[in-house]
Amino acid sequence: MFVLVLGSAAGGGFPQWNCNCPMCEGERTGVINAHARTQSSIAVSTDKVNWLLVNASPDIRTQLNANHQLLQPARQLRDTGITAVMLADSQIDHTTGLLILRESPKPLELYCTDSVHEDLTTGFPVLNMLQHYCGVNRHVLPLDGTAFSIPGLDNLRITPVGLHSKAPPYSPHRHDPGIGDNVGFWFEDTATGGKLFYAPGLGEIEPHLQAFFANADCVLVDGTCWTDDEMLRRNVGTKPALAMGHLPQSGKGGMMEWLANFPDVRRILIHINNTNPILDEGSPERAELAAAGIEVSHDGMLLAL
Ligand code: MLT
Ligand code: MN
Ligand code: ZN
Repeated sequence: MFVLVLGSAAGGGFPQWNCNCPMCEGERTGVINAHARTQSSIAVSTDKVNWLLVNASPDIRTQLNANHQLLQPARQLRDTGITAVMLADSQIDHTTGLLILRESPKPLELYCTDSVHEDLTTGFPVLNMLQHYCGVNRHVLPLDGTAFSIPGLDNLRITPVGLHSKAPPYSPHRHDPGIGDNVGFWFEDTATGGKLFYAPGLGEIEPHLQAFFANADCVLVDGTCWTDDEMLRRNVGTKPALAMGHLPQSGKGGMMEWLANFPDVRRILIHINNTNPILDEGSPERAELAAAGIEVSHDGMLLAL
């Protein structure tokens, strides 16, 4: 299985358009050693020809162009390597890219939960809007632990993993959290045996996650914030990371402590917020991660599992 990181930043990207925090301003001026990043998305393939887009970021046009050798097979006048699109949640950074794909000559093959489908037809009605363009052929993501496969993506088995979280502010069920607001994905290549657990939004270590982390070759998980109070610390917001559904890396009960249980698994962070000090490759926080054997994904990173 091939996993291509299209965008490794959280919502807002890095640097964020209106932000002059030490990370954003530091990247622009070159004062820190950091690389710009687009918003959260990956593509998964077993043959490097047909790809599953997992989350559709507002930066998708830039991402597809930056990776055209892999994602634009150019077999005909209008073509794409994207066979289907699958969504982890209905957040702006994971779904706005659907609108950018409107020129598709046929309906988008879209895999999402009922909860995400509700949000995308009400509070953020991108699927209604797409009916005036390419339309979507929507498929329901199972939430009962069963695996499924997608036509055209040979040998790829996908199991959605429900994660306790909160729907976005525009969701009709914002204050009524349920299963399906946010999911992680267990990917298995039945030919190579490669196994990946992907969860760009992971707010809580729930008991059912143990087996996925323990059995994976690689986990690609939430790297949004270093500390729970990071936004406050940087004077750019008040919301704690945990309240936004993101487990901070450092401290007691943090992601690093959890990942230390799986030293034999390749552990990579994704969905990095622009305030996170790990974006500075010369920072002590980045050194701490490296010492713990934890990697930070970057745009264009290609994994083979
Ligand atoms: C989140 O995951 O919390 C989002 O990145 C927020 C956003 O896109 O505004
Ligand atoms: Mn996000
Ligand atoms: Zn910033």
